[in-house]
Amino acid sequence: MRPKVLVSRKVFDEALALLSRSFEVESNQRDVPFTPIQLVKKLQGKSGAIVLLTDTIDDRLLAQCPDLKVVCNVAVGYNNIDVKAATRRGIMICNTPGVLDDTTADFTWTLLLATARRVVESDKFFRSGKWKGWGLMQFTGYDVHHKTLGVVGFGRIGKGVARRAKGFDMRVIYTDVQRVDEATEREYGVMYVDKRTLLRESDFVSLHIPLFPETRHYLSDPEFALMKRTAILVNAARGPIVDEKALVKALRDGKIAGAGLDVYEREPKCERALIAMKQVVLAPHTASASIETRTKMATMAVQNCIAGVNGQRPANIVNPEVLAR
Ligand code: GLV
Repeated sequence: MRPKVLVSRKVFDEALALLSRSFEVESNQRDVPFTPIQLVKKLQGKSGAIVLLTDTIDDRLLAQCPDLKVVCNVAVGYNNIDVKAATRRGIMICNTPGVLDDTTADFTWTLLLATARRVVESDKFFRSGKWKGWGLMQFTGYDVHHKTLGVVGFGRIGKGVARRAKGFDMRVIYTDVQRVDEATEREYGVMYVDKRTLLRESDFVSLHIPLFPETRHYLSDPEFALMKRTAILVNAARGPIVDEKALVKALRDGKIAGAGLDVYEREPKCERALIAMKQVVLAPHTASASIETRTKMATMAVQNCIAGVNGQRPANIVNPEVLAR
């Protein structure tokens, strides 16, 4: 009998076909996320799973799915999965690093530019038929070129964002738990600073750190108080890194000038007040959403799943300790 695997949400046909060559596949092509109870039921008897960020894979679920060998997230982030619990239970967890770096860096810049130059607001204005002709003061935003960009988290995506800033003649500063070597700093034209300096000096603050308990609310009231009143925040990382209520207050009180957001504390919702704010650009968690990249992510997850279910080492395992047993 062929091993059984679950695909929890809609994925590209190519990815599904690849998986079906090796396994008996049950897939949720309706694309409505399973409830936690449904997900447990569907996973029982399955050796592998392809899941999305909207699926919570916690210890309670894993305890009820003893046949599971591998869970493959179609995402680079995996804060929806209790990796420690999976490791304890000998279950491999995989993600999709690398393939989405440039696409996400592109989109970070899309948000940055759209917020600084008021693109969404202008588009709505034009479509409403209210534009009566050119005006000197209309839709004046903030310059981006020659300003200071603060990159929080100098991993692959942070580096991609910094590299793109060269074309805008920007000064780029970064902060992270670790400083990179001097040669890398020179290559990217960046300078290491501590968090407070970054917040005080940046015209644009862009977040590229993963969500861990220690990065939750990395930006809250005290941090917004340090930022320039003309600063723009960009978050294409994870919503809970920013205290969304504090962000609303900072925007309302003019502590910062604007925000370009792709992620939210309680997706698919956001703080209601953000919806009415013209100085905010809101995207529905689409930073990696190019056809090419999302296809690669799905294929990568499938390849991880095939390897894991067949007892081989998946290329993108995040808890390789499991294999050492
Ligand atoms: C998307 O948010 C991802 O982590 O890949």
